Amino acid sequence: MQRDVSSYAIAPSVKVKLLNAGFLSAADLCDLRPLQLSKEACISQEEAVEVLQAVRCEPGQERAAAAGRLTALELLGREQELGAIVTFCSALDMALGGGMPVGKTTEVCGAPGVGKTQLCIQLSVDVQIPVCFGGLGGKCLYIDTEGSFLVQRAVDLAQAAVEHCGLLAEDSEQQEALKGFTVETILSNLFLVRCHDYVELLAETYLLADFLAQHPGVRLVVIDSIAFPFRHDFDDLSQRTRLLNGLAQRLIQMATNHNVAVVLTNQMTTKVWSGQSKLVPALGESWGHAATQRLILHWEGTHRLASLYKSPSQREATVPYQITGQGFRDTPPSDQPKASDDPSVRESGSLSKRPRMEEDQSTRTAHSTRDEVLPGMLVERAAGHRVLKSPGLVAHPKQQ
Ligand SMILES: Nc1ncnc2c1ncn2[C@@H]1O[C@H](COP(=O)(O)OP(=O)(O)OP(=O)(O)O)[C@@H](O)[C@H]1O
Ligand SMILES: [Mg+2]
Repeated sequence: MQRDVSSYAIAPSVKVKLLNAGFLSAADLCDLRPLQLSKEACISQEEAVEVLQAVRCEPGQERAAAAGRLTALELLGREQELGAIVTFCSALDMALGGGMPVGKTTEVCGAPGVGKTQLCIQLSVDVQIPVCFGGLGGKCLYIDTEGSFLVQRAVDLAQAAVEHCGLLAEDSEQQEALKGFTVETILSNLFLVRCHDYVELLAETYLLADFLAQHPGVRLVVIDSIAFPFRHDFDDLSQRTRLLNGLAQRLIQMATNHNVAVVLTNQMTTKVWSGQSKLVPALGESWGHAATQRLILHWEGTHRLASLYKSPSQREATVPYQITGQGFRDTPPSDQPKASDDPSVRESGSLSKRPRMEEDQSTRTAHSTRDEVLPGMLVERAAGHRVLKSPGLVAHPKQQ
């Protein structure tokens, strides 16, 4: 009963009156009678009846209520069905347990230029990989608050993904699917919204539920970045915290109710603590609880590393990645950090203190059983097809 009033199919003028009168979620309305609601929200009795019908009879509401009665086994089945979005960096997919999880929120933090936007654009393409190639066949809503989404970069990454799937295609089903997986279709399934300040961003998040209800194929919502509009223009930091907490709640609900992966980017800021300075994610400590998992992209000398810092299901891990003309990829073995560069043995700043995930024997065995079509692109056979598959799904160290 936590669903926002703004997400129901109710006339906008009535929604505004409900919100102004303090009716924010379905829980605030469900016990009211039409006359009472009409008086309290200053709407007609007919409008009040319509509102209460929408809230009580909306099928999504019944689903949400039913979700509260799921068994753990049913929930496991549901989560496995939702899947994950591959990043095209198999080491990172493995660390994440298969890719960016659908139904959950992930925060990607990092210094300027480290690759946050590149990862987001990569995901916006990868979420569209057809199901018979092991993808989700979904669409993406990309909310750009920094003006850093470059469509030519999306074209480059889409072209590389199409070519990659073209190399994998073996049977008629995959050949047929390729006809609908072109640069043009990828761009047309990528919905862009530009928000210039936090007011526009908050307004957009209130409209998101309606958008997702109208576009049920959307499996990924990106906000790049959450930090930019919230780092300035705030004299009252407690107000900022309240707004961010509300935003985080809405995004988590959206990820769960609409089965989308929500990916947020955040900037880094310097924190001075016990006479030492360290780089930490911006927006304060309470924001650190906002996303289900937190990934930090950082530099170790000339190497780019991704560290999974917070996850309810995966262990902490640090893996190398690179950004190429084709997009976000694995670092070739010859170019990976040497032992002395390894963050698990060398401390150089706060971001290097987490242990690096061991490239254990089981992982290497799993790699060797697969076809390598392009560097960093691992595939395996499933249901008779060659499909893109994250190594983590079958050989994550946790599962050994
Ligand atoms: N065509 C390309 N080929 C290779 N590398 C590229 C290409 N385009 C971008 N890059 C790399 O990606 C980096 C920029 O990454 P990105 O824009 O994702 O940074 P960011 O983490 O989002 O930074 P910011 O915080 O400023 O938004 C560039 O510095 C460059 O190293
Ligand atoms: Mg960026």
